[in-house]
Amino acid sequence: MVEFTLPKNSRVKVGKSWPKPEGATNTRAFKVYRFDPDSGENPRVDTYHVDLDTCGPMVLDALIKIKSEIDPTLTFRRSCREGICGSCAMNIGGINTLACIHGIDEAPKGDIAIYPLPHMPVVKDLIPDLTHFYAQHASIMPWLETKSNTPAKEWRQSIEDREKLDGLYECVMCACCSTSCPSYWWNGDRYLGPAALLHAYRWIIDSRDEATGERLDELEDPFKLYRCHTIMNCAQTCPKGLNPAKAISEIKSLMVERRV
Ligand code: SF4
Ligand code: SF4
Ligand code: FES
Repeated sequence: MVEFTLPKNSRVKVGKSWPKPEGATNTRAFKVYRFDPDSGENPRVDTYHVDLDTCGPMVLDALIKIKSEIDPTLTFRRSCREGICGSCAMNIGGINTLACIHGIDEAPKGDIAIYPLPHMPVVKDLIPDLTHFYAQHASIMPWLETKSNTPAKEWRQSIEDREKLDGLYECVMCACCSTSCPSYWWNGDRYLGPAALLHAYRWIIDSRDEATGERLDELEDPFKLYRCHTIMNCAQTCPKGLNPAKAISEIKSLMVERRV
């Protein structure tokens, strides 16, 4: 087995290594980031050996097994276990993804490194602080804005207009895209990032919404929208196969169209 090493100047320490489970012949090592900001200690990477013959196929199965059978202090978010709630987002083998739909056998060969989503403050272990991310989402008004009187039955939409929401409404707000975006790493305080902008576009093109002008006015800002440089990390990493970069370019086109 290749010994796990960290860069010489890394603040992250090599932490505890738990022994292999007795009698297990099919194990894999998980190198997991551990950090409690209240402890005052540097972060560390602990090593857990998981018996794959008694573990489910997904990375989240391995984390749940580690927490229940090896180390109950390991902390991570999860809920649905089927890629719907977006809560188990983390960096697995160098890729931002959802642990519950990422197979252990999809990770690069050898030990599997698991870190929290990059460039976010850490609450504990694999849990990033998403307060700012959610505030940015709220800022794009993620709801239907109407001015007309409420119809007697429902706000109707044609099949064609409904289809325009495909590739947008499926977003589970996991933050994998925004935390893989270099522009968001450096300007995340003012740049809204791919997730919030994908949602902004979802409401801009909703045929029932009556606040398109106001929505575009809000985004007409050198930082909120225009920090996207089409690097495309967002589309590459999205575990739901969505393309936030395309949504952002559609917003930019609408900005140009309304100027002419
Ligand atoms: S395309 Fe835009 S939003 Fe997506 S990663 Fe690149 S800069 Fe970020
Ligand atoms: S666009 Fe994809 S990666 Fe980004 S928050 Fe939505 S589901 Fe997650
Ligand atoms: S646990 Fe809900 S998306 Fe992974």
